[in-house]
Amino acid sequence: MTWLITGGAGYIGGHVVRQLIDAGERVALIDDFSTGDRTRLPAGVAVVEGSTLDRAALDRAIREHEVEGILHFAAKKQVGESVEQPFLYYRENITGLQTVLEAAADGGVKRFLFSSSAAVYGMPDVDLVTEDTPCHPMNPYGETKLAGEWLVAAAGRTYGMSTVSLRYFNVAGAQSPELSDTGVLNLVPMVFERLTAGRAPRIFGDDYPTADGTCVRDFIHVSDTASAHIAAARRMRTDKAGETSLVLNIGRGEGVSVKEMLDVIGRVTGYDATGEVAPRRPGDPARVVASADLIHKELGWSARYGVEEMVASAWDGWCSRHPGARR
Ligand SMILES: NC(=O)c1ccc[n+]([C@@H]2O[C@H](COP(=O)([O-])OP(=O)(O)OC[C@H]3O[C@@H](n4cnc5c(N)ncnc54)[C@H](O)[C@@H]3O)[C@@H](O)[C@H]2O)c1
Repeated sequence: MTWLITGGAGYIGGHVVRQLIDAGERVALIDDFSTGDRTRLPAGVAVVEGSTLDRAALDRAIREHEVEGILHFAAKKQVGESVEQPFLYYRENITGLQTVLEAAADGGVKRFLFSSSAAVYGMPDVDLVTEDTPCHPMNPYGETKLAGEWLVAAAGRTYGMSTVSLRYFNVAGAQSPELSDTGVLNLVPMVFERLTAGRAPRIFGDDYPTADGTCVRDFIHVSDTASAHIAAARRMRTDKAGETSLVLNIGRGEGVSVKEMLDVIGRVTGYDATGEVAPRRPGDPARVVASADLIHKELGWSARYGVEEMVASAWDGWCSRHPGARR
């Protein structure tokens, strides 16, 4: 069987494509290359250049590659941009998803995985966020992920598809330099950018009710994130069609503060990563750490890598794209 990967040229999709191929799976991908990068693609992989909003391109991809399962990564993912352009986010993330689901239902595809996000939880007031923690997304991006989960589950029920929605926490690192994150939206690349430009990294607020006053997050290596998809794909393949309907966190269950992360980055890069304190950003919760119990119970998956490995691999990727950064 072939898995169709939407957004397979992206940061996380690119890792999943690589791990699926390494696991002996057949893969085709569809990507509009709006943020994707061709250098992430393994030689010989089948690529359809097109949008998830293009029903004809999706139908063709499903038919020509005899697709039996879809892993849907393609989406916009910038929280601030989603506040400024809600129509864009609902179109790309919801209409795009619905178009893929309609093509899947009509094409007889019975397995569907959806990239969701910890953004569905908003500002959770708990030590460990379980999948039962109430969801109160704080921005259109998080809303599209929560509504997306509902749409996926509804399609699964009606059309007899097995479905899995995976809520990623703070993804970092790279399996190999060419697969690394090219954006500077997440903490680790944002800090690299500041350090290599000769500027101090910013800490947005140091008066949160946490041990050192800075925000605490659950950082997860992208290779671990990808391996959770392989486990989910296997589960959907072995279960009877329509039997699986899961929503699962992907995290390590371990909180790391922004200050602790800066210490690790300083050690790994050799730069002085002492942060400069800036005002809090609106909407930043003090602590968001996953409970990773359910995914372990359902898929037998747990994370292997720690923050040192995330930062070291992300730094290798950064240096390969920015020669001269390394000290
Ligand atoms: N990176 C993170 O920390 C993180 C955290 C939580 C959730 N997510 C979710 O994971 C998914 C992948 O994120 P990523 O970090 O790999 O992002 P990315 O921007 O690197 O990858 C997205 C990929 O989708 C493609 N794409 C975007 N819109 C498309 C469309 N309409 N049609 C076809 N292709 C399209 C892009 O060209 C790119 O290759 C997204 O759904 C994102 O919301 C990411």
